[in-house]
Amino acid sequence: MPLVNMKALLKDAMERNYAVGSFSVANLEMIQGVIKAAEETKSPIILQIAEVRLNHSPLHIIGPAMLAAAKNASVPVAVHLDHGTTLECIGEALRLGFTSVMFDGSHLPFEKNVEMTKEVVSMAKGYGAAVEAEIGCVGGSEDGSVDIAMRCTSPDQAEIFAERTGVDALAIAIGNAHGFYKEAPELRFDILESVRDRVSIPLVLHGGTGIEPEDFIRCHQSGIKKINIATATFAAAERKVREGYEKGEIKGYYDMHVKQIEGAYENAKKHMEIFYSIGKA
Ligand code: 13P
Repeated sequence: MPLVNMKALLKDAMERNYAVGSFSVANLEMIQGVIKAAEETKSPIILQIAEVRLNHSPLHIIGPAMLAAAKNASVPVAVHLDHGTTLECIGEALRLGFTSVMFDGSHLPFEKNVEMTKEVVSMAKGYGAAVEAEIGCVGGSEDGSVDIAMRCTSPDQAEIFAERTGVDALAIAIGNAHGFYKEAPELRFDILESVRDRVSIPLVLHGGTGIEPEDFIRCHQSGIKKINIATATFAAAERKVREGYEKGEIKGYYDMHVKQIEGAYENAKKHMEIFYSIGKA
């Protein structure tokens, strides 16, 4: 199964009423674990990495690894740049062959966000890649470095933004935030439903870590078709390693390597079940 475009994956998710898990990866072990879960469960998936993480995992190294994993997978896999903030980085991802990019202009004034997003849409067109953008502000930040205040999406703005920019997927803020939630999030399903009624493109939920299964299900039955999971994968890989040491199961480097794969695999598989993506590949 080839590397695929995110647009095609999300179209199928809309037609068959499920969500595609978009899993952030930081190394080969996480790539391997997520792909293993997708192949075993026959789930289409998206592999992604955020621009802010590239200081740990440089794009010119991890990007080709993500693409190679996708090309060799037995299920459809899209490769996505998450939270792109600079045109340089977005351009590099497109040149490498990423099949979609996110431009995150959520912190910009509305008109500036529209203008920059349009520029990214026209850049991506030349590569046949899809574009995700964000309207409203998802709380926190992808790497926890800044505590961005959450600002719920205005359905009116979402409709105008989608129309004017021509993006393929739209991330919205409905009480969700990146990282671990301090308190259980109370998602604004009223806003989600209102956006869904006005916007025809697939919607994206960031900040997947810590959202309850029943809320995930309500989200993907109400227009969310891409769900981002990052912190939970990192935490699962780290926890598996820690438990491995505690139980004396790690005797050397490669035992640790295997534990990381297992952590990423188990976490991804659990989410694929909740997203109803199993068997959809
Ligand atoms: P979490 O780290 O909360 O899972 O959020 C992931 C995300 O939205 C990446 O863009």
